[in-house]
Amino acid sequence: MEIKITKTKKSKIHEVDMNNIPFGQVFSDHMFVADYKNGEWINAEIKPVENLSLHPANLALHYGQSVFEGMKASVKRDGTPCLLRPEMHAKRINLSAERMCMPAIPEELFLEALHKLVGLDSDWIPPHDGSALYIRPYMFATDEYLGVRPSKSYKFIILTLPVGPYYTKPVSLKAETQYVRAAHGGVGEAKAAGNYAASLYPAKKAVEEGFDQVLWLDAKEFKYVQEVGTMNIFFVIDDVVVTPQTDGTILKGITRDSFITIFKDHGYKVEERLVSIDEIFEAAEQEKLSEVFGAGTAAVVSKVHKIHHDGREINLDTKSYKVADLAYDIITGLRNGTVEDKYDWIVPVEVLEAV
Ligand code: COI
Repeated sequence: MEIKITKTKKSKIHEVDMNNIPFGQVFSDHMFVADYKNGEWINAEIKPVENLSLHPANLALHYGQSVFEGMKASVKRDGTPCLLRPEMHAKRINLSAERMCMPAIPEELFLEALHKLVGLDSDWIPPHDGSALYIRPYMFATDEYLGVRPSKSYKFIILTLPVGPYYTKPVSLKAETQYVRAAHGGVGEAKAAGNYAASLYPAKKAVEEGFDQVLWLDAKEFKYVQEVGTMNIFFVIDDVVVTPQTDGTILKGITRDSFITIFKDHGYKVEERLVSIDEIFEAAEQEKLSEVFGAGTAAVVSKVHKIHHDGREINLDTKSYKVADLAYDIITGLRNGTVEDKYDWIVPVEVLEAV
């Protein structure tokens, strides 16, 4: 499909301090928009970021048909902008869409829109390690209708934002014993907006109790660890890297998948399996738990310094973490071109004339 491009007349890039960018607040010059109507994607366009006009009966606002992705563009030391495993994100948004009864986005459209948009706003990619151009592809229902049924029309939008680190210091987690994120048969595996809305109240209570985030446990027994919501979770027990298996209740993280490959490649034994919260506390008691960290596109690697569960607590010295640092160094090195891309994950983006 032809993507119409309308460039901004005046870039806002000079208003931004690329050395000091809070996550999620600063947007680059352009966005991609396409509409789904009568069974096909139409009106594909890149244009200056502008407000949307929506009817108050917009279905997504009422019943939550809305899915998204999180990706990052970085720039190599030689100046080439690049993406990491973009085709994985193209596939995953369609899995989320299927679960939410939404149409698929053709992978070619997703990837071409991404390349053109990032190519046009490539000056917005912060060059420092740990910073990146965060990319937010998302799709939501646009029917003007208040009956509960799948929408017939949708919008697919891609926004890009220069960002610094999501978590700027090690985090503390409260293992949740009252609220749940996802049950078997639910939508936990989909990157659906509602999963994040449902996590806000328990997360707010956790913050009021002095923790940074919630560590979700399974919905049936409150026994097995799932994920953190903003990231997947890894443990290092007796030098073995352990992470909860994806069983339909947790997000199939692409960073999670990359880390598993990197760890195996560096000689670590990696186990994807059920991990009970009791096993984590026993391992800590026996001094076998050496690291706990989160993995996500936004978070990259986020070290955990404390886990609280039902009145007991584990405290960890994050300065001694080696496995988390390895993951960070390899992902950062792949992104900036200083680590050889033997996995074929890095895809260069052609720079387009911006203004
Ligand atoms: C990401 O890591 O990209 C996410 O989507 C998590 C989050 C910031 C909601």
